[in-house]
Amino acid sequence: MPEAYKWTLMDSAARINLAIAENSLMQEVVADYLNENLRFKTKHLTYGDGTTGSYRLKANLTNFINNYFQPLRNVASDEIVISSGVSGTMDQLAWTLCNEGDGILVGKPVYSGFIKDFYARSRVNAVPVSFGEVDPFSIQAVQCYEEELSNFNKRQPGTKIRAILLANPHNPLGKCYPRETLLEYFKFCERHDIHLIADEIYAMSIFKTSWNQEAVGFHSVLSIDMENIIDPRRIHVLYGMSKDFSSNGLRLGLVVSRNKQVIEAISSITIFSWPSSPADLAWCMMLEDAAFLDYYLSEHQRRLGEGYEFLAGILDNLGIDYARGTNAGFFVWADLSFALARPVEGGEPGLTEDMELDQRLIKGGVHLAAGLGYQAERPGWFRITFSQPRPLLLKGLAKMMKLLKGVDIDILQMVPESSQNIDLADSTYSSLRSSPEPLLKRKCSV
Ligand SMILES: Cc1ncc(COP(=O)(O)O)c(C=O)c1O
Repeated sequence: MPEAYKWTLMDSAARINLAIAENSLMQEVVADYLNENLRFKTKHLTYGDGTTGSYRLKANLTNFINNYFQPLRNVASDEIVISSGVSGTMDQLAWTLCNEGDGILVGKPVYSGFIKDFYARSRVNAVPVSFGEVDPFSIQAVQCYEEELSNFNKRQPGTKIRAILLANPHNPLGKCYPRETLLEYFKFCERHDIHLIADEIYAMSIFKTSWNQEAVGFHSVLSIDMENIIDPRRIHVLYGMSKDFSSNGLRLGLVVSRNKQVIEAISSITIFSWPSSPADLAWCMMLEDAAFLDYYLSEHQRRLGEGYEFLAGILDNLGIDYARGTNAGFFVWADLSFALARPVEGGEPGLTEDMELDQRLIKGGVHLAAGLGYQAERPGWFRITFSQPRPLLLKGLAKMMKLLKGVDIDILQMVPESSQNIDLADSTYSSLRSSPEPLLKRKCSV
């Protein structure tokens, strides 16, 4: 199977990708805006301000973080290092904070990329933490990390747990950590002399729907009082352009850290992941245009909420269970365990049946993100992306139902009433045409 199938929405008429975390609902808005406004100068063809991003982008990101993440103490531009995507920043942090064989704690289910990001170059192990019946967002969950840390340090003499990684908002669970839980993680890190990496790449991909009124909102770790709880130099926040700015292809990510040594260490290797000037300029333009930014972020969040309700409504109609209370991200974490084969020797389905189900779906023409890649605690869970064009989503779900239940379902009948006004025959993009003209016409001020 060609490698590209993982990254494209449809590599042929036959295979639909609902596994990838891209926001197609806003890509046209961004593309139109950039096509209208982006103009290069010769400076953008040079090495510019060096390997860690332009001064201009750093100043813009400093403003953005100070305005939107509500840090208790304002972030300064020399506390930011920019490179080509958050995956790269994971690799940089693993290299900076750990020695070969060391571990970084990650709660299950864990975004599959982390495991490779830590290991590929630095040979650092993502150490998955199981929660059993404990809510991963509760204070009690910290005890599960305690146990895993102590097991790892005993099991692997000469190596150590160096950090814990929290994806907040969480991928794939689509929820945010409450402040009180984050505070417990601060104490945990201080107690064990380890770092806290907060991946906040979905910070602005949060949404309100009638289904998630009680959901905890996003609080950046930077917004929590650390005084006398944790040395701020232990905390490193990651952010990027891929998710909140619907621009996975522009490849920009950053680390925010008050640890000078960490900033220096990462900066020493950013020559290998130097952010591209056109991408750097593109993000500057969006961040500098207050009217566009305001429109873009509120529309992004509105469409995500609508997308979530659309998919969750269909799953409800199909009788498929999924994790509730989601208010962030691009996906629904769904329980397809009803379709797992029964092991021949009896007993409960496990890894073999989980892999078989994943392959059955892929071979049958629909690619969902399999929980086994996310170290899910139970087999049969899949992450389904809802931020894709509706016709594609519907086709993918119809294929899924055919494969899993062996029945042809008229998926159009399943569309929730609240979404009936959406033009399903056309692409999702049709509604984007109503976006306010002036915002898309502003010229570049470079
Ligand atoms: C939680 C999380 N972190 C990081 C990444 C990778 O981001 P980037 O595209 O900036 O490498 C992803 C992409 O899916 C993600 O979900």
